[in-house]
Order: sequence, then structure tokens, then C-alpha cells
Amino acid sequence: MNILLVGSGGREHALAWAIAKSSKCTKLYCAPGNAGIEEHAEHVDIGAEDIPALVKFAKENKIDFVVVGPEQPLVAGLATELKKAGIPVFGPEKAAAELEGSKGFMKDLCAKHDIPTARYGRFHNLEKATAFVHELGAPIVIKADGLAAGKGVIIAMTIEEALEAVEEMLSGQAFGLAGSEIVIEEFMDGEELSYFAVADGKTFVPLTSAQDHKRVFDGDKGPNTGGMGAYSPAHFMTPELEETIIETIIKPTVAAMEAERRPFAGVLYAGLMIVDGVPKLIEYNARFGDPETQPMLMRLKSDIVDLLYASATGTLSNLPPLEWDDEAALCVVMASKGYPGKYERGTPIKGASALENMDGVKLFHAGTMKDNSGTLINVGGRVLNIVGKAQAIEEAQGKAYEGVSKINWPDGFCRSDIGWRAIAALKNKAA
Ligand code: AMP
Ligand code: GLY
Repeated sequence: MNILLVGSGGREHALAWAIAKSSKCTKLYCAPGNAGIEEHAEHVDIGAEDIPALVKFAKENKIDFVVVGPEQPLVAGLATELKKAGIPVFGPEKAAAELEGSKGFMKDLCAKHDIPTARYGRFHNLEKATAFVHELGAPIVIKADGLAAGKGVIIAMTIEEALEAVEEMLSGQAFGLAGSEIVIEEFMDGEELSYFAVADGKTFVPLTSAQDHKRVFDGDKGPNTGGMGAYSPAHFMTPELEETIIETIIKPTVAAMEAERRPFAGVLYAGLMIVDGVPKLIEYNARFGDPETQPMLMRLKSDIVDLLYASATGTLSNLPPLEWDDEAALCVVMASKGYPGKYERGTPIKGASALENMDGVKLFHAGTMKDNSGTLINVGGRVLNIVGKAQAIEEAQGKAYEGVSKINWPDGFCRSDIGWRAIAALKNKAA
């Protein structure tokens, strides 16, 4: 098959690497890609959000299958347009991508179909929102309804903070249109976990779990980011917990989406809070996680194209069971100094080639490019993803940081404690 991958981050580099390994892939293109993806795919100079240009390219270049990485084009209807053109696509159609595109839609679906989640209300009126904040009390969570690049969530510790967030969002100051409707919900206290499944509209196959580190600084401090590191599987995952997640959350969601005539085909990425042992849904994403995908795909032994194509063509029930490496994989994100705030672009990165022959270490690129002289430079906030894989999580962490130490990039930084919860839990257990 001629395959077109859409996106430009570390997630897409991991997908490109996995797709390129498949015997089903004759030729891989990536729009727009990054400096690392070019090792596996031909660069296509079209942005991930330019739907008409992507559809035109796919038609003109005899693309047999399109794999969409990021959420924006899915929510904007890329999969719908490709299907209309008769091209199989991995990723949900517009109506199904609402699961990520509208937090209010997702909450209403949960309420209607008894999927466990935090108590909530949907508002675009300041007075009613204010009354609900007083009713629920603090801590309390305020969310912009629409996509806000991972920044549309405020955890307010006091009523005052909550009311300030409500006002800023509803006035359009904070997130523009994405915040013109908000969801206000109960704060859940527990341990966070991400769980992934691939659905084909009717049925699904469970993938695996991961845990990411959303805060920018060590010890989970500082502002939220897209993710500074992740590891898979999550350390406290058990077969019983997995069964509960599948039975009470994933299965009813796939059935609910089918019943609502919005069949969901693509990745269901469930952000979960485990409260006293009970999984509750925080939110859904309609795509793979970034950086969770990087360690996850290091562990996948099955052919990824078979999985993605079966999802796109409604044939998951014929797919043989997936095989996973039982080793742990851990990914450290190197970001531009200043991220998630302002940062400089175009700073030189050296040493990447030193990671090529390291055992159990893999480098995925995110916001990278080569300048005219062929030097690797940063063009985004999150820039390099270094994954270590080993029998034990602590060893995987050691390998990832050994990889990081080879990178010479004075304008970059990373957290030094990715995986700390898992490692601390193991030490506690041993003690
Ligand atoms: P989101 O952008 O929806 O992934 O939310 C970002 C982060 O906010 C999540 O990863 C959680 O850590 C936190 N969060 C969101 N909703 C809640 C909630 N109801 N209770 C506690 N934490 C939450
Ligand atoms: N790492 C969080 C996300 O992909 O949304």
C-alpha cells in the first residue's frame, strides 16, 4: 500500500517508524513530517490542517491508506472528506471526533450511557455557571468545551480562582471560541492513568496503558504541557483493573457511539482517574497520545498497519490478538528552553547520531528541521523524544537518560525524573 501519514510530532515519528517496518507498506509519505520522519517517509509539503490539499494529494498520488496523527484535522473532518473520496483512513470521522472536540458532548454521552465520570454541568451563561461553582465548592475543575491544545483546563483550588477562570473563558479572553461554552466539574482525587483501545465503529481491541507527566518541572510542578515524558505500561495496572476499564468505560463508549450514529473508528485514548480503585473517565482523546505513543509502539510486536487498516475497514474482529513485548519502555521529552511559554527557534542540536547504535535506546524527533547547512535545529516546543526499553522500568529510565546525555543542545532541557512514581512504588514494595 501507498500510505500517507499526517502530522509532524514525536507521535508521528513513532508511527512512521512502526509503519515503515510493515511488509504491507510499499511507500510512505508524511505531511508535513519532521527531520526524523524523513528517514522513513517522503516529505509532503502540506500542513496537517489543510484538508482540501491533503485529499487532493491522496487522490493524485494513488494513496491506498491515510493515517491521521493529530486531533485538529480529525475534529475538522479530514477523515470524513477522505472517506467521501473513497480512501480508507485511520482516525474517526468528524461526528465521532466530537468525543475529543467537545468536552460537553463527551460528558453528556457518559451521563446518558452510565459511563463513570465526574459530576458536571455545561454552561455559556455566567450567572448559572457561578451558581454551579458555589454548589460544587472547591477544589473544582473548569474546562473550555472545545480544543485548546491541552491548555483549556483549570484546576481551581478556591472558589475565587474558579470564578475568575469561568469569567475569562466565557468572555472569550482565555481560549476564544473554544471557551464560549464551558464544562464545570467535580475535582477527582486519585492516580491518573491513560488507557488505549482501537475501535472500528462496532468493536474494539484493547491496546495497553501508559502514564504521562504533564507538568513542566521535576516533581510534577509548574505549568501543564503537552507531556514531558511517559512510560508504558502504567506501574499500577493489574489484569483486574484493566478488565474494569474495558467493561465499564471502553465497551460502553464504543456501543454508545454506535447507538448515537457516530460510530467511532480510531484510537480511543481514555484519560482516567483511579479513585479508591475505581476507574473514572476524565476525558477522551480521539487519537494516539504524544508522548505515550513513543514508548507504547516500542512495545508493540504485531504489525501496526494490520491493526490500523482493520480499524479503518471495520474488520477488527478478524485481527489476530496483538502481541506486546513485556518489557517496560520510558520516554523522556527534550523541549526548547522556555516551553511551554516562549522559546527561541533555530538553535542547533548536536549528538543525535550517537543514539543510532545504542542498545535499547531509540530517538524520535518532534519539532525538528534541518537548516540549509544540514544542521539539526529546533522548530517547536517539544523537540526530541528519547525512549529506553528494558526488563525493569528503572533500567529503561537509565537507558533513556543515557541517550539524553549524548545530546548536545544548550538551548534545550528535560525533566530528570520521568517515571518517578513507578520507581518510587517499586522501591516501596521492595522495602
Ligand atoms: P485534560 O486537558 O482534560 O487532559 O486535563 C488536564 C489534566 O487536568 C488532567 O490530566 C488531570 O490531571 C486534570 N483534570 C482534569 N479533569 C479533572 C478532574 N475532574 N479532577 C481532577 N483532575 C482533573
Ligand atoms: N500526552 C497527552 C496527550 O497526548 O494528550
